[in-house]
Amino acid sequence: MPQPILELSGLTKRYGAVEALTGFDLAVAAGETLAICGDNGAGKSTVIRIVSGAQPPSAGEIRIKGRPVRFASPADALSQGIATIYQDLALAPRMAIYQNVFMGSEILKPTPVPGLRVLDKQAMREAARGFLARLRVEIADMDKPVEALSGGQRQAVAIARALRWKADIVIMDEPTAALGVRETRKVIDLIHEIKAQGITVILISHNMRDVVAVADRAVILKGGRKVEDIPVSGLTPKSLAGMIMRDDAEIAADRENQALPLGGRRGE
Ligand SMILES: Nc1ncnc2c1ncn2[C@@H]1O[C@H](COP(=O)(O)OP(=O)(O)O)[C@@H](O)[C@H]1O
Ligand SMILES: [Mg+2]
Repeated sequence: MPQPILELSGLTKRYGAVEALTGFDLAVAAGETLAICGDNGAGKSTVIRIVSGAQPPSAGEIRIKGRPVRFASPADALSQGIATIYQDLALAPRMAIYQNVFMGSEILKPTPVPGLRVLDKQAMREAARGFLARLRVEIADMDKPVEALSGGQRQAVAIARALRWKADIVIMDEPTAALGVRETRKVIDLIHEIKAQGITVILISHNMRDVVAVADRAVILKGGRKVEDIPVSGLTPKSLAGMIMRDDAEIAADRENQALPLGGRRGE
C-alpha cells in the first residue's frame, strides 16, 4: 500500500474495567472503501468515536498521511478532513436542505459594516444543488425542509455537508439500518458516487449485502480485537456473516492452519 491516508496503531479504549477496544491496528488507503464489521458489542462504535474525535483513545496513535494527530472534538477531526455521519444524520428536520448543508459554515455576503453577518442564501442554494448534483441527486427546491425528504435523500444531504467541509474521509455508521430495500439501494449508489470522487469511506454495517456491494475490504472485530482484515472481492454476504459468527476455537484453529507451511487459508 502507498502512504495510507489513515493509520491507526495500537488503539485501545477502556471504559472503567471494560476494554472496548484492544490494540487495534488499521491502515486505510486513499480512495478505499473499508467496512468495519462485527457483532453487537464488538467495538465498532468505539473505533468510530475515537476516529471521529468524539472520544480520545486510552492508548495508541492516529496518523493522517503519516502525520500523528490528536482530535480535541468532532469539529477538530472535521477540520482535519474526517467527517462522520451518524445514524441520526444530525440534520435539522425543519430546516431547508441548503441550511442543513451549510450548517456551521454559512456563506456570508460581504458587508461594509464590520461584524454584521448577512447570509448569502442564493449562493448557498446554488452550492447545495451543486453538491447534490455531484452525488447525482436532483431535488428541485433547496428550500424544502429535510423532513419532507426520503431516507436516501436525507443521507445525500448529510453527505453533501461532508463535501462542503471538503472531507477526504467520510465515516458512515450503519447508514442503511433504518431504510427499506429501495432507499438502501440509493444509499449504496451514494457511496459509489463519493468513492468515484476519490473520497475514502469507512462504513460500519450489520448488513453484509451492503458490505459486499460497496466495500473493497472488510475488517472484522470481535470482543474489541481485529480478527480479520480481508479483501471483499470473492466474498459473499453469507461467507462474511460466517466469519463474523465464528467462535474463538474456530479462529484459533484458523490461525494455527495459517502458521503451517502449506496450510494457509485461501491458498496463501
Ligand atoms: N461508555 C461506555 N461505558 C462502558 N462500556 C462501554 C461504553 N461504550 C461501549 N462500551 C462497551 O464496549 C464494548 C464495545 O462497544 P461498542 O463499540 O459500542 O460495540 P459495537 O458498536 O460493535 O456494537 C461493549 O462491550 C460495550 O458494552
Ligand atoms: Mg455500535
